[in-house]
Amino acid sequence: MFGRRERFDEVLRALRLVGAPRRHPELVAELLAESNLRFADVSARVRFSPGRYTRNAVFRCDEYEVLLLAWDRGASSAVHDHAGSQCWFMPVAGKFDLKDYAVRTGGHEPGPAELELIRTRRAVAPGAVGHKDEGDDVHWVGLSEGSAYGVTLHVYARPIDQCLVFDVPRGLAFARRLGDDALAGPRFAHGPLAMRARRMFDGLPRPASWVRNRLRPTSH
Ligand SMILES: [Fe+2]
Repeated sequence: MFGRRERFDEVLRALRLVGAPRRHPELVAELLAESNLRFADVSARVRFSPGRYTRNAVFRCDEYEVLLLAWDRGASSAVHDHAGSQCWFMPVAGKFDLKDYAVRTGGHEPGPAELELIRTRRAVAPGAVGHKDEGDDVHWVGLSEGSAYGVTLHVYARPIDQCLVFDVPRGLAFARRLGDDALAGPRFAHGPLAMRARRMFDGLPRPASWVRNRLRPTSH
């Protein structure tokens, strides 16, 4: 079999052989499930950011695109659709909570949209492949409480530049443009360890002098 570094390249090569994922949805799900990807296979391609998820573009052609999403502790997506594209989704690291929604009214363009929560799954583990078909694709994704960080692999066919996000309690849909986060700075500053260090530092009590300086009334 392949070494850790080559394993992800092998998945990309296999997708290129499939060519048009929309015509072979089971094949795509199968090759993702059998890829046995772990964090070490993708760590060089993802950058984390505190308290949110980042989009890391990997490959894009007319037929499909491949993204890795890197989730910091507590991060979750908006409730969103996939703009009529098919979507394959697989946790690579961390566990994820998933909620599926049915669109009752609207939901095809920005404006009023009534959604109903139809399914909740908790702590979906690495290797479990989800597939969303055209038209039945509104969901929410969040990193499970017990996971300090996570990575998910996404294949969208065709590529998605814009989707709808939903404010479920208010019954509204909004358009959102999507893009690569392309975070600057050295990779080590965007790894899971750096996120943990940042949380530890944020949790430290401030020195008394720091507090005093900020409480001092400003002179005019
Ligand atoms: Fe999604």
